[in-house]
Amino acid sequence: MKVLGIESSCDETAAAVVEDGKRLLSNVVATSMDLHAQYGGVVPEIAARSHIESIIPVIKQALSDAQCTWDDIDAIAVTYGAGLGGSLLIGVLAARTLAIRYKKPLYAINHVEGHVYANFLTQTSLPDYVLPAQAPAFPCLALIVSGGHSQLVLFRDHFDYTLLGQTQDDAIGEAFDKVAKILGLPYPGGPSVGKKATEGDAHAFQLPKARMQAKYDFSFSGLKTAVLRLAQEQVGKDYSLPSMELPGLLNEAQKANIAASFQRVAVETVVDKAMQAFEEFQPASVVIAGGVAASPELRRQLAERLPIAIAYTDRKLCTDNGAMIATLGCYHAMLGRPTVDPYKLDIAPNLSM
Ligand code: KG4
Ligand code: ZN
Repeated sequence: MKVLGIESSCDETAAAVVEDGKRLLSNVVATSMDLHAQYGGVVPEIAARSHIESIIPVIKQALSDAQCTWDDIDAIAVTYGAGLGGSLLIGVLAARTLAIRYKKPLYAINHVEGHVYANFLTQTSLPDYVLPAQAPAFPCLALIVSGGHSQLVLFRDHFDYTLLGQTQDDAIGEAFDKVAKILGLPYPGGPSVGKKATEGDAHAFQLPKARMQAKYDFSFSGLKTAVLRLAQEQVGKDYSLPSMELPGLLNEAQKANIAASFQRVAVETVVDKAMQAFEEFQPASVVIAGGVAASPELRRQLAERLPIAIAYTDRKLCTDNGAMIATLGCYHAMLGRPTVDPYKLDIAPNLSM
């Protein structure tokens, strides 16, 4: 069973071929990140235009890297939500057209659920991928941490899960991106704040952890504002100083200490809740998913505190990619889930778990 996965929910145009939900045959990602970097965040119109330019070449490359023709492909899986409307539309229209043209079953994939399935890939002959030896066992606790989502989900089985909690405002990746902007570090903020943090003292400053009514919910907007106030205070100005003037006034040591203190608290916040959920539900495995799952600090804190080992997937499969969509597509097909009508599939920008 070979499935072509197509992903275009944000700024990555991606396609991949996965066999039997475990073997990665190809993984092609074209990103428009460089075009957004000068604005400090994703510009939806630019992302959509880039998808139009890249989608066909990316799909062709994914088939050719997997040494597949259309005859070898059993089904197509595509992200239909959540994400940016204009971006989702390009992937969905491409997938619908190809499903009709080549008479392939079409599966509609939830992007956030897809992130979790990057952890189910265990085999590949592609160079430079380090994959876990085994797929996660159920029940599985998933900590999903990306630019758009922060969630704790308990999977009892494939397609049988409970959303334990989620962010009530910003996602953790969004907080990293905003803090990067305050400190004048490049977009995306996760890697740049993480790198700067290695030069700083993670205990230089005390920053707040939000207290939530629902115990597995998150909030990161207060932490982001606290970082802004701290930075203004450090340069001896009050809250009226525009944040865009901060990077020029902060010295490198201040930036490093703020980055390290922020990163410690942001990561501790999600690890605290993951620990609580682990104790309550006693899952057989824990996985992390989404762009922030690539964070070395998150992996370090989890390794230090969780009583069981986590088998991490390759960092390239944490950020948006087609492989995770193809993998979940395989499970849809292998478990006989319903296909969607290629003449009717619509996007769902606000889709939730
Ligand atoms: O999953 P993803 O590629 O897109 C969404 O679905 O949102 O996640 C992107 C987010 C960005 O906020 C980025 O700053 C963060 O993931 N990120 C990281 C790292 N790489 C990407 N955060 C921390 N450490 C990283 N190495
Ligand atoms: Zn994502």
